Amino acid sequence: MNAKTIIRCAEAADADAIARVQAASWQETYVGLLPASILSAETIEDKAARWKRILGDRADFGTIAVCIAENDGHPCGFASGCQQRTEALKKEGFAGEISAIYVLQRFQRGGTGTALLRAVASSLLEQGIAAASLWCLKSNCVAKRFYERLGGDIIAENANAHGQKTLVEIAYGWRDLASLAVASSHS
Ligand SMILES: CC(C)(COP(=O)(O)OP(=O)(O)OC[C@H]1O[C@@H](n2cnc3c(N)ncnc32)[C@H](O)[C@@H]1OP(=O)(O)O)[C@@H](O)C(=O)NCCC(=O)NCCS
Repeated sequence: MNAKTIIRCAEAADADAIARVQAASWQETYVGLLPASILSAETIEDKAARWKRILGDRADFGTIAVCIAENDGHPCGFASGCQQRTEALKKEGFAGEISAIYVLQRFQRGGTGTALLRAVASSLLEQGIAAASLWCLKSNCVAKRFYERLGGDIIAENANAHGQKTLVEIAYGWRDLASLAVASSHS
C-alpha cells in the first residue's frame, strides 16, 4: 500500500465521505452489471443518511466496524463489518458479515482493499467473531478474484429477479478470520 494511504476507524462525521466513495465506486463497478433502476434508486444524500444511521446507531444495525482508507488525507476506500444478516449462514457458523468494501478505481491494485479487509477482520475477531462471510455479484469478476486470492471459499448462491434480469449473488466465507486478519496482498 502506498505510504500516503492510512486506514482508520470511521466516525459519524465520515458518513458523507463514505457515501461519495460508495456512489463513485458503484458507477465505476456496476454499470452494465446492475440494472439502471438499482443504480439510480439511491442518491448520494440517501446513502449519506444511511451511513449516518449505521455509524450512529451501531447496536441497531449490528455494526461492528467501519474502516476508511485515506490517501494524502482524501478518502479513497472503505469497508464495513456487522453481525451476520443471513440466517442460514449464521446457522453454518458464520457469525459475522463483511457488509461492504469499496476502493476507488484509481487507488486499486495497491493493497488498499487487502488492508481494509484485514482491518475489518481484526475488529470482528476482537468482538469474538471467528468466521464471516460476504455477498458478491457473481458477475463481479474483479471482486471474485480479490476474495479468492485472500482465501475466501464460495459457500452459498442466491438468485433474485429484478424486472427482466436475474441477479445472481455468491457468498464467500472465511471459517478462520485470523488468517484474513494477517493476509497480505503480495504473499
Ligand atoms: C475488490 C476491491 C475492493 C479490491 O481492492 P484493491 O485495493 O484493488 O485490492 P488489493 O490491491 O489489495 O488486491 C489484492 C489482490 O487481489 C487480486 N485482484 C485485485 N484486483 C484485481 C483485478 N482487477 N484483477 C485481477 N486480480 C485482482 C490480486 O491478486 C491482488 O494482488 P496483486 O495486486 O498483488 O496481484 C476493489 O477492486 C474494488 O473496490 N472494486 C469495486 C467495488 C467492488 O466490487 N467491491 C466488492 C463488492 S462485493
